[in-house]
Amino acid sequence: MRDLINSYLDELVAIRRDMHKHPEPGFKETRTSGIVAEKLRNWGIEVHTGMAKTGVVGTLAAGNSNQTIALRADMDALPLQERNTFDHRSIHDGIMHACGHDGHTAMLLGAARYLAQTRNFNGTVHLIFQPAEEGGGGGRIMIEEGLFDRFPTDAIYGMHNRSDQEAGLFGVRVGGIMAATDNFEIVVTGIGTHAAMPHKGIDPIVTASGIVSALQSIVSRNVPPLQSAVISTTQFNSGTTWNIIPDTATLRGCVRTRRPDVRDHIRLAMERVISGVCAAHGASYDFSFIPGYPLTVNTERETRAAVSAAAKVVGERQVDPDTPPLMASEDFSYYLKKVPGSYIFLGNGKQSVTHRADYDFNDEIIPAGVQYWATLVEQELSGKCR
Ligand code: NI
Repeated sequence: MRDLINSYLDELVAIRRDMHKHPEPGFKETRTSGIVAEKLRNWGIEVHTGMAKTGVVGTLAAGNSNQTIALRADMDALPLQERNTFDHRSIHDGIMHACGHDGHTAMLLGAARYLAQTRNFNGTVHLIFQPAEEGGGGGRIMIEEGLFDRFPTDAIYGMHNRSDQEAGLFGVRVGGIMAATDNFEIVVTGIGTHAAMPHKGIDPIVTASGIVSALQSIVSRNVPPLQSAVISTTQFNSGTTWNIIPDTATLRGCVRTRRPDVRDHIRLAMERVISGVCAAHGASYDFSFIPGYPLTVNTERETRAAVSAAAKVVGERQVDPDTPPLMASEDFSYYLKKVPGSYIFLGNGKQSVTHRADYDFNDEIIPAGVQYWATLVEQELSGKCR
């Protein structure tokens, strides 16, 4: 397997860099998904396009077993101006592959090619290339459009590079591996007035400042110390000029949690803090808590399968079966609400950080990623009883 996969490494690196050079935002991955569909067809894989606009599913069967496995990659890029200067830097202003989804797509294509050529498994493999992981919920939409009705599967697996981990190291864990994310918006309404006569109005900026500070006490004072949560206010918008106290101030931000009870608790505590601070200042408010991606929860049997496949590729000592979870979130969580499965990290090396303008996917980890996918399929669809 290693030699065969290495024999197409140059092509996979070329595909990866070409995708890096031509990044596309969520639901607009037409060029990328066109290349994916064409490659899959050329390798003799049945191709289904058009789910969630640009999603592609490749289906490959061998032998007579009705066991099924699904592997998933994401294809979208981020709205960020690339600062890299190498030849394959983004040619599109303000958009770049800063999360390595170019690498994820190339690695799953590599596995598709190997599996189509060797067919050394007994059952069916669904290769899912989804759009819009970065906030658009492309995975959720594919499920709503009937992904698992059209392509039923016993289990689903995902993989993401991890930039705080040594290159080629695998990390996974049973249970929550990525956090839930929810967004919030708070509109504080006071009474506008002359900046020199504040006593004639109610200042929404002072009120909202009190809210920003008080929200920080929720994690430190209301969440149990052994639970994790983050509340970040990331936008504070108000006012038009130097000498007018405005009518309103708008705060926005997000909440990250790892347990549903902590999430509910934080939502209630936020409402209490906002209403209390506003009452103290005589202001009123509108509070919206906007649900985002749920917790990504790996199931036990599939995570054991993932650990075993990764260990066959890089050796047991290069696999952390109890890796620390991330407070980032993933729309892979929606697949895991429907079918058992596991989401694994593959170290990208520590030269940059995902979502940063100098990030690049590390091509040296492509062989490990491709071999992991191929090994997982051969192991899980071995034709033996599970
Ligand atoms: Ni990502």
